[in-house]
Amino acid sequence: ELARARPPRRHRGLVVFFTGLSGSGKSTIARGVADALLETGERSITLLDGDVVRRELSAGLGFSREDRDRNIRRIGWVSAEVARHGGMAICCPIAPYAAARAEARAMATAAGADFVLVHVATPIEVCEARDRKGLYARARAGQITGMTGVDDPYEAPLDAQLVIDTSDEPPEDAVAEVLGYLSDQGWINPRG
Ligand code: ADX
Repeated sequence: ELARARPPRRHRGLVVFFTGLSGSGKSTIARGVADALLETGERSITLLDGDVVRRELSAGLGFSREDRDRNIRRIGWVSAEVARHGGMAICCPIAPYAAARAEARAMATAAGADFVLVHVATPIEVCEARDRKGLYARARAGQITGMTGVDDPYEAPLDAQLVIDTSDEPPEDAVAEVLGYLSDQGWINPRG
């Protein structure tokens, strides 16, 4: 009876929530983790990529605290629904506010799922040096305001299960680190 109520982690719903600055490597790692698990077919995966979410789920929202909180609440809600029946949701928004992340965690837990927070803690200097989208340069030039890490806050999590800095680590290694953690903790099959 107990085992039925609380199945093993491999069969339980899971939300893997990546948070970090723009350019920290969240999306790349999230995509790598999703691809690896899709390949083995061991779990059913829904990837909620940040840019896709902004286009499909949060079109029209901006980057005020209120809009960011709305965005994270939507992501948290969809993720919890995915995980409710044993699916695995992987999401990778900046999610700069601790309260919104806590809310996403609470929604997953209320759905009977687990929640793993991964802080992609690549420092701003490195993200800014990469500046793949040119947003940091525009923020420094005063062409855009409210850029996370420049003139908008990022509350670094104190409750992350995993902290990854991609400054000196290739994406494959970061992906392997996440997969290693998930397998060590029993959420996915042993690797190797
Ligand atoms: S969140 O704050 O609501 O979690 P989200 O991850 O969806 O943000 O979107 C962040 C992406 O939007 C960044 O990677 C970047 O490409 C783009 N962006 C545009 N304006 C901003 C801004 N002011 N601050 C941060 N990211 C921005």
